[in-house]
Amino acid sequence: PKPGGQGARGLRFGAVAPNTVDAVVVPDGYAQNVVIRWGEPILRGAPAFDPDNQTAAAQAGQFGYNNDFLALLPLPGERGRQLLVANHEYTDEILMFRGYDAERPTREQVEVAWAAHGLSAVVVEEDRGTGRLTPVPRHHLNRRVTATTGFRLTGPAAGSPLLRTSADPTGTKVLGTLNNCSGGTTPWGTTLHGEENFNQYFANGSRPTDKRYGVGTGATERKWERFDKRFDLAQEPNEVHRFGYVVEFDPYDPDSTPRKHTALGRFKHEAATVRLTADGRPVVYSGDDERFDYFYKFVGSKRMRHGTGRAVREHNLSLLDEGTLYVARLTGDSPAVEIDGSGKLPADGEFDGGGQWIPLATATADGAVSHVEGMSADEVFVFTRLAGDKVGATKMDRPEDIQPSPHTGKVYVALTNNGNRGVGANAKADEANPRNANKHGHVLELTERHNRPESTEFAWSLFLVAGDPDDPATYFAGFPKDAVSPISCPDNVAFDPHGNLWISTDGNQLGSHDGLFGVATCGERRGELKQFLTVPTGAETCGPVIQRRRVLVAVQHPGEIDGASVEKPASTWPDGPGKITRPAVVAVWRRDGRDIGV
Ligand code: FEO
Ligand code: CA
Ligand code: CA
Ligand code: CA
Repeated sequence: PKPGGQGARGLRFGAVAPNTVDAVVVPDGYAQNVVIRWGEPILRGAPAFDPDNQTAAAQAGQFGYNNDFLALLPLPGERGRQLLVANHEYTDEILMFRGYDAERPTREQVEVAWAAHGLSAVVVEEDRGTGRLTPVPRHHLNRRVTATTGFRLTGPAAGSPLLRTSADPTGTKVLGTLNNCSGGTTPWGTTLHGEENFNQYFANGSRPTDKRYGVGTGATERKWERFDKRFDLAQEPNEVHRFGYVVEFDPYDPDSTPRKHTALGRFKHEAATVRLTADGRPVVYSGDDERFDYFYKFVGSKRMRHGTGRAVREHNLSLLDEGTLYVARLTGDSPAVEIDGSGKLPADGEFDGGGQWIPLATATADGAVSHVEGMSADEVFVFTRLAGDKVGATKMDRPEDIQPSPHTGKVYVALTNNGNRGVGANAKADEANPRNANKHGHVLELTERHNRPESTEFAWSLFLVAGDPDDPATYFAGFPKDAVSPISCPDNVAFDPHGNLWISTDGNQLGSHDGLFGVATCGERRGELKQFLTVPTGAETCGPVIQRRRVLVAVQHPGEIDGASVEKPASTWPDGPGKITRPAVVAVWRRDGRDIGV
């Protein structure tokens, strides 16, 4: 197949077939390059990557590990350059350190891991005439944020006794960010980053709230608590309350202190995506990625201002401090039905229904009020999962990324999978989560009432039910299933300039590698899903950015296979045999220089 084949505008490429190739595989007629890898120096003075002599000081000036969310932002005045912001979700010590002893990590290894977490900002430059991107080391906007960078807690719960520690009696200053999964880009020129599985870094949890957030009762796998007591809840019980937020980062101001926004609640934030109301207030969607957990919406009360002056930027950085946090409750409009092997639909012919955004708490300039009986506002913002439990929010199949369409306003919610649905005493399939033992996940389409982002009611329907199209329990928005690619475990979602939804996957259960897919959401080809690329062995596909002439993906955790190590790699990507496996960012473009998929 040639580029320019069948499909909706933006999706006219020859679909990549499912495969298990240890490489990034792109459609015929497309080219790719590795933009930046774990360990490449980006700050002044940082040394070249030397995996056998890695130090924390070196890592703090180099691109971090396990890139997830990506933003590619404009850089006015610098021709051919853009500003790349990346999340570094977590570390895979066994794949980073030769001879790693999980029982006895060294201080240096632990400090390397701290420095490999967090965020990177790095200016990238394009080769003229191709889509190839390369980093610009030592640019003044290049920056690393790590597990030890100073952060400010802002919003209604900042300063709360729940957030005070012996190192920070003010409850407003935190060191570092952990497990930044996906994120979002704001219309006011900052980036948002979801702190997701923060529970895994904290030892000796004992309270019911620790349990609800999955904090273990014993030692952690990484053993950081041996090197910094803040990771030991027996010694610092409130430190864990300072993680699990949406982080806001101003990549255009390298001296800025990044923030953690308490008004958006504390849970395993997969991501945070922003749209504006007609009068300019921010609305932020965020999923809590856990089996049987919820998804949320924040509606701000302050209006965004336009401009780039300091006062304007400062105002806009406070937009997420005031507003109301809501959680979603979905109701099917027919008797709860499971999609079964016969592909039977509910009695009314469609998996759809209505939903409400249930208010949890409102933050104002004068303080905050709780809308949840028996919980204070501080408790709602810090123990948000418990608030969702109390108001009867709908238990979903692992809510991951959420993205409103800039073309139609409809909102897409990726639900990655839930093998425990309907197992034992767990909640059974319902219309919005229609499969028991849901291996492959699904995508919901929400329509806010009157298409207003701030509405407190919405309608929803199933857009995709993932899996092998030959499986009768799959659904591709009604498109003929003999003409779509198999897909499993949708995770990140993004829109291209044509209004197509792009979906990256994590944990493909169909025996082939994860990848990136595009699907039309409107018109005659709505539901036609096509695979654009696949990633190497053991990797998941993250952070897609779909520009007119370029696709950017983060290849996260290549070679992460049980039993693999530096000595016994499962992947030789990206540098070939004998070289350590490195998570990296990849750019893809059309060889003939034309737009992607037209
Ligand atoms: Fe870090 Fe929910 O994926
Ligand atoms: Ca229905
Ligand atoms: Ca994810
Ligand atoms: Ca995931």
